[in-house]
Amino acid sequence: MAQDTGALDDLLREDRRFPPPGSFVASAVVRDPGVYERAAADPEAYWAEWASKLDWFEPWHTVLEWNPPYAKWFLGGKLNVSHNCLDRHVEAGRGARTALIWEGEPGDTKTYTYAELHAEVCAFANVLRGLGVERGDRVTIYLPMIPEAAVAMLACTRIGAVHSVVFGGFSPDSLADRNNDASSKVLITADGGWRRGGIVPLKANADESLKTSPTVEHVVVVRRGGTLSEQTPADMREGRDHWYHELMADASSDCAAEWMDAEDNLFILYTSGTTGKPKGVVHTTGGYLTQVCATTRAVFDLHDDDVYWCTADVGWITGHSYIVYGPLANCAQIVMYEGAPDTPDRGRFWQICEKYGVTIFYTAPTAIRAFMRWGDEWPAKSDLSSLRLLGTVGEPINPEAWMWYHQVIGHERCPIVDTWWQTETGAIMITPLPGLTETKPGTATLPFPGIQATILTNDGKEARAGLLAITTPWPSMLRTVWGDDRRFRETYWSKWKDIYFPGDGAKMDDDGYLWILGRVDDVLNVAGHRIGTMEVESALVDHQAVVEAAVVGKKHDIKGEAIAAFVTTREGVEPTDALNAELRDHVGRKIGAIAKPEVIVFTAELPKTRSGKIMRRLLRDIAEGRAVGDTTTLADPAVVRRLQQMHEAEEG
Ligand code: WTA
Repeated sequence: MAQDTGALDDLLREDRRFPPPGSFVASAVVRDPGVYERAAADPEAYWAEWASKLDWFEPWHTVLEWNPPYAKWFLGGKLNVSHNCLDRHVEAGRGARTALIWEGEPGDTKTYTYAELHAEVCAFANVLRGLGVERGDRVTIYLPMIPEAAVAMLACTRIGAVHSVVFGGFSPDSLADRNNDASSKVLITADGGWRRGGIVPLKANADESLKTSPTVEHVVVVRRGGTLSEQTPADMREGRDHWYHELMADASSDCAAEWMDAEDNLFILYTSGTTGKPKGVVHTTGGYLTQVCATTRAVFDLHDDDVYWCTADVGWITGHSYIVYGPLANCAQIVMYEGAPDTPDRGRFWQICEKYGVTIFYTAPTAIRAFMRWGDEWPAKSDLSSLRLLGTVGEPINPEAWMWYHQVIGHERCPIVDTWWQTETGAIMITPLPGLTETKPGTATLPFPGIQATILTNDGKEARAGLLAITTPWPSMLRTVWGDDRRFRETYWSKWKDIYFPGDGAKMDDDGYLWILGRVDDVLNVAGHRIGTMEVESALVDHQAVVEAAVVGKKHDIKGEAIAAFVTTREGVEPTDALNAELRDHVGRKIGAIAKPEVIVFTAELPKTRSGKIMRRLLRDIAEGRAVGDTTTLADPAVVRRLQQMHEAEEG
């Protein structure tokens, strides 16, 4: 939800400015300030210029067809994503170049050159074909952060299968929902993955999900290897489950890439919305690859000798666009890390930066705030002099965290790109260009060239403060919600006519910079992860002890937002500490650990209007310990006082 205006005004008083360092400007990928005007004058020509840097089997005949809210980009064009990420570079004689440097949490490492990654992807594409996967079929990928995650994604794109990557932290129930919504034919998982010294039991979760995923015919299981396989022997079901390494042993690494239409589906990625059911955001091939490729090069100022590290998980859009597709399409040298930032100690990220000479580092504000809290001594132990550019994504970054990132990690030398975008936008939309834009702590600054964004009021009037709006189509925009065109139209296109509504509040300053303030709908952003309040409410009322639940976000120093739940129990059920813990676990089981409420307040009743609507605004005030706003429309105003007392007791 949007921050209150007081905090916002403080933000806008932020007057520290950071012009791009001179040394940086001279060799920046984008250094012509005229690019904005040129792109605005003819956005189609601008995007076509980027698209033409890719390999097309057949050229497009029309850049854009816009029948709001349906856009088609590069019509008639044929291409293949894995070809563009791999074959193209190998054919250009760059097969021996490092593509992927992977480090496991226990410290094991593996490196792939472009030629090796190409061979692995081709072989796995043949494996998938052998399991009956055809063009257009859906494949669920439920893997830890291991190279096989990228291999599996690219192999799907090679044969035109549509992948749906499910974050490894999601529960069996969440996985089953996604398998079923997409009717996935194959599930790719691992015996486990390492996280904070423990094992994430992915295969066991997958088995649980398969009890209610009737469409899944085959399961491919990657052996994570090392000591893990001894600790969690996977239970392999004859005929259904196959070891990745066994299938790969017989697979040919000769696999022609399918000629995909620019508008063929590339992947589905589920994200939380305002109902209990996550939306399958659909991305297509040509426009998506064009914009992720363009933004990776321009925003991260990618040069040949860069070593690029994005710390996201492939289970989120950031991992799709800026670990796998954008960087590989640019022939970048990528670092990928499996585990937690504090294992074995809080210096792990900085050790990785030093060890591999990372030059570009992209992470989330929530991580930056955790590093700040852990203390400057951790980054100080490592040599961070290779870093030259820093990025953030996922939530608003508070100026204090921005300044810490700038000083302690960037040594006041590295530009920071604060990038605003969403699962739905597919690629970066609002961002500084590091060789051009003067940055200010806390703002994502300006729309990327070729993107038109503004701020509108609810009824569509231009304003300095209000709702962020994207006014023209862009290549990597979502095309629909999987199986639910209506939800696509209603969620994103019904607020204004032919203008995209992202669901974020924003304000514009005197320089025309956009300050993104957070969600204005019932979607929370907890540690950079989107969670719908309705999803958590559904999980809570699914427990037999609960009759009603209301979930709101409350400010959190590190996570940005934390989940607070107000719960009414069934007659005769005692609201005990044990029940509190049980409900948190229940939400963890239904959705995943990231959705567990931070606080649960038991209440005999929830504040409702006379027409029975729960007043979430009041609950937010209570959860954040603020004076509550207008209560005159409440059916029973005394409820608020009782809730405040209970909340204070709960917070201790
Ligand atoms: C928020 C992540 C402020 C925003 C790529 C958006 C941001 C949601 C920023 C999308 C940023 C993302 N500044 N807020 N730089 N980047 N957000 O789909 O609320 O996981 O709507 O995509 O994150 O989250 P999603």
